[in-house]
Amino acid sequence: MAIRPILTAPDPRLREKSRPVDKVDDGLRALMDDMLETMYDAPGIGLAAIQIGEPIRVIVMDLAGENEEAQPLYFVNPEILDPSEETSLYEEGCLSVPEFFEEVERPARCRVRYLDYAGNEQILDAEGLLATCIQHEMDHLEGVLFIDHLSRLKRDRILRKLKKEQRFVAAE
Ligand code: NI
Repeated sequence: MAIRPILTAPDPRLREKSRPVDKVDDGLRALMDDMLETMYDAPGIGLAAIQIGEPIRVIVMDLAGENEEAQPLYFVNPEILDPSEETSLYEEGCLSVPEFFEEVERPARCRVRYLDYAGNEQILDAEGLLATCIQHEMDHLEGVLFIDHLSRLKRDRILRKLKKEQRFVAAE
């Protein structure tokens, strides 16, 4: 397993649309292991493959609390079914948009169909933080970031600050 660098906005690779995975094999499982390790190290609760530069439809998540045992979740080729009309508001953040947190409104519940770590089809009914997190990560597969759900004014302000910070880091 290895910790991989996480891309941050406005890196254009984060805007790529990810392609479906053909087969869940050992190579893919090695990538999912790296993703999970990278996410735990950050630390974060969700990571899409494109965030480490791999444009494929794979997500890892773990919503376990600090003193709980790890509960890794792996989603390959996830699809959202039946998003609820009822919405909920959560303060979201993203490892690719570091240090910024803003409220985003999304369907409160959804059903997800996906392949798991072993390549078996699973269906999960999600609500609360789980539903929000899955939808946030699914957005990454379409090249969408949570800041795209904000007003243009807020989004541009965040992107400007991120760009400025990256110039400082590059200059060090
Ligand atoms: Ni994210």
